[in-house]
Amino acid sequence: ADSVASMSQAIQKLKKERNAVILAHLYQRPEIQDIADFVGDSLQLSQMAAQTDADVIVFCGVHFMAESAAILSPQKIVLLPEEEAGCPMADMVTASELQRRKAEMGDVLVVAYVNTSAAVKAESDICCTSSNAVKVVATLPQDKPLLFIPDRNLGDWVSQKTGREMTMWQGYCNTHDRLTVEDVIKAKEKYPEASFIAHPECQPDVVAMADFVASTTGLINYAVQSEAQSFIIGTEEGILHQLRKKAPNKNFYLASPKLICPNMKLTSLEKVLWSLEEMEPRITVDPDVREKALSSLERMLAIV
Ligand code: 13P
Ligand code: SF4
Repeated sequence: ADSVASMSQAIQKLKKERNAVILAHLYQRPEIQDIADFVGDSLQLSQMAAQTDADVIVFCGVHFMAESAAILSPQKIVLLPEEEAGCPMADMVTASELQRRKAEMGDVLVVAYVNTSAAVKAESDICCTSSNAVKVVATLPQDKPLLFIPDRNLGDWVSQKTGREMTMWQGYCNTHDRLTVEDVIKAKEKYPEASFIAHPECQPDVVAMADFVASTTGLINYAVQSEAQSFIIGTEEGILHQLRKKAPNKNFYLASPKLICPNMKLTSLEKVLWSLEEMEPRITVDPDVREKALSSLERMLAIV
């Protein structure tokens, strides 16, 4: 505990000297969430990255998130304390694979979940996150076929909510996709009074069992406001930290112990401190790619 406190203090001091802002995703370790200036879902984090007047953004999350920050704020230094923190789902579609698919499909609009590389965003028409995907897809012209990349589970949920047919890329989040109907049945048997709330990255048959489906921030807001006292949580375990802080009298049960994203757990206080000391590893995006990827992100940010 001592070292956590002293490292946290050292981070705060260095952060001021560097005029840095620390942004953390809701799946980060509790001690990382606690030193962050802002903790949120993917959309909120990209909005913060676009707005901040800090010189340096320390991104406690995964690579595509830091890349989005670099796209939105090219004049800032963007640090990703753990360079190896990637998103396996984002890696399930490459720019060249997408180009090939677009050539096969002809006149198609590509909707890219933000969990994609800058190069893939550059090949897409508009981005979305789990909190605005339904809204984004609802704005798209009816006469154009849609290709949704890379998350087939999120795509399926959006398609159901909007009534819009879409061709799905066959990607998925290894963490959320592991949660099964059997896991949820067991959890419901154990906690019959609890509401089941889930992230749309879960499999469609799991999502169909949920009382409420939303992005991480959406799930937290729902749990805080809902009259229910107990919740079975169908998303990554990092979310429990803010749930317990924001609703200390309610009960939260993870739907399965498998719900851990190893990449999100790579960021540690040591790494954040080291990163602020060294001003490394920096995430940059090639200017040509950046300009095209920015259009896709800006089209999304204009809608929400
Ligand atoms: P949200 O924070 O947008 O719900 O995203 C979930 C996720 O898996 C991020 O990698
Ligand atoms: Fe990627 Fe899933 Fe981890 Fe989010 S939780 S970073 S989608 S692997």
